[in-house]
Amino acid sequence: MCGIVGYLGKRPVTDVLVNGLSNLQYRGYDSAGVAVVNENCISIVKKEGKLENLESALESTPVSGCVGIAHTRWATHGKPSDINSHPHYNADKTIAVVHNGIIENYKELKAFLAEKGYEFYSDTDTEVIPKLIDYLYEDNIETAVMKATDMLKGSYALGVVSSKDNNKLVGVRKQSPLIVGIGENENFIASDIPAILDYTTDVYLLDDNEFVIITDEGIKIVDRNNNVIEKAIYKVDWKKENVSKGNYEHYMLKEIHEQPEVTKNTLDSVIDQNTGFFRKITFDKEMLSNINRIYLVGCGTAYHAGLSGKMAIETLARIPVETDVASEFRYRNPIVDSNTLVIVISQSGETADTLEAVRKWKGKAAAVIGITNVIGSSVSRECDKVFYTRAGAEISVASTKAYVAQLTLLYLVAIEMAYTKGILTEEESKEYISKLYQLPKSIETILDSEDRIAALAEELKDEQSLIFLGRDYDYPVALEGALKVKEITYINCTGYAAGELKHGPIALVEKGTKIIAVCGSMRIEEKTHSNLREVMTRGAEIYCVSSTEHKEFTNIVISETIDLFTPILTVVPLQLLSYYIAKHKGLNVDMPRNLAKSVTVE
Ligand code: M6R
Repeated sequence: MCGIVGYLGKRPVTDVLVNGLSNLQYRGYDSAGVAVVNENCISIVKKEGKLENLESALESTPVSGCVGIAHTRWATHGKPSDINSHPHYNADKTIAVVHNGIIENYKELKAFLAEKGYEFYSDTDTEVIPKLIDYLYEDNIETAVMKATDMLKGSYALGVVSSKDNNKLVGVRKQSPLIVGIGENENFIASDIPAILDYTTDVYLLDDNEFVIITDEGIKIVDRNNNVIEKAIYKVDWKKENVSKGNYEHYMLKEIHEQPEVTKNTLDSVIDQNTGFFRKITFDKEMLSNINRIYLVGCGTAYHAGLSGKMAIETLARIPVETDVASEFRYRNPIVDSNTLVIVISQSGETADTLEAVRKWKGKAAAVIGITNVIGSSVSRECDKVFYTRAGAEISVASTKAYVAQLTLLYLVAIEMAYTKGILTEEESKEYISKLYQLPKSIETILDSEDRIAALAEELKDEQSLIFLGRDYDYPVALEGALKVKEITYINCTGYAAGELKHGPIALVEKGTKIIAVCGSMRIEEKTHSNLREVMTRGAEIYCVSSTEHKEFTNIVISETIDLFTPILTVVPLQLLSYYIAKHKGLNVDMPRNLAKSVTVE
């Protein structure tokens, strides 16, 4: 979603801001802008569309200064346009604000300010903020920001500058991410680490209702009552290469190719190489024996990982699991008590609906556990316990390596739970773990057939719709494959449990309908094959991902593993298929239309 960058230092400020925005583009946006303070005025340049539009505008209207804020906007209130872009400012352009989040009471605030004589030009919720700060300003910008946030309802991360305090950069967060980058004689604010990785790897992670005031003297972090907060410096372990494409044409392809290494990294983070067993047992035996229900909660791809996680935990640890979409879970009335475990899954750790599940059930469930990829993310900080996927920065909007890392971790959790409950012995657990360690090699083998998958993608690229089918362990993968192809190729894809075909979807099948079948799980492969024959007799053409060749279908073959772990392998050809269909169609693979990498608003 929207991206914030703020800078105070000696470098050319627009260069730092635009570079930061460029590294945040992956979050998704539809306009971009900067505000730079110079002596007694603020110069604001903002443009609808891609960052290049802003860059051209800055070339024709250069602005300079040593403190500034910048923003990429993903429209929520008001369509993408120059006027709705951030920064927003007060009437005399002495205060400028960038904002991520949603101000829920903006209509009331707008009416209140209009009565005081303030005029509004945009359709955004954000525009009330600089005007409110202006109204509350007495003698310094930080106090005015603090007073303004007392009146704001909703979620926000803010970057604020004022030409009345011309060497100051103020930031604050509430339910929207904001970090502080620590440099030498220069400091930053940003909504995400990649924005500052070119300059520093030392950061402070702001918590809700914490304010940062950056001046020439350094960084001060305070609470609502202006009490200074001492925070630990967090060292980012992502490398710059993580946020570059390397030799690949797109981040998505690079990230698909990183999956063997990612799977191994995630395993190594939990498993002791010498013993082939867990470094430490994280679940308390007594606590686990009291757990009679687990909820796995996430959105999109993370939800699909949760569907496979449910099967793994139920199969191995014999605890009933429900997997829920976070946006549903937060509003329905689930039965959560001290015998319930809530596990949330989120690559970014900042997804608004997923975070709400954490906030709602922490303290009521036996524990709320987070599985996330981003160290220091809100999920990692707010959950009772956190497991990190070791996927490294995932830049492409379409999630690939994070999904495979989530599956790996969920399998490990299932094995560890089964061991703790006494269902699996140490030896049996090691057997499963050693099978997991074979997967990186098997993923590499699938990647070797990339050219063939690219050729199949060519055959599929002009389809109007595709049907994905799978049963048992393959069903969540069919859903994930449909999502992957849909989100980056804009082909209408639907995923079904193969056994559901005759209950409706088969009506869609006619001569030439293309069906992508996931048949990794051998134990009921024949059942899925029967379903496939049913659609073939009605003219469908089948593309089948499985571990054995079948004459009747176009096959994409994966190496064998135990049925339970096949999703880690069967998903890879589907990721490649979606990538190559989008590439053949000439689409923007890494930044599909309308989508944002990190969905930080509801
Ligand atoms: O950061 P999260 O894992 O919480 O994100 C959840 C979804 O928004 C995400 O998986 C989305 O569905 C991806 N674009 C799928 O590729």
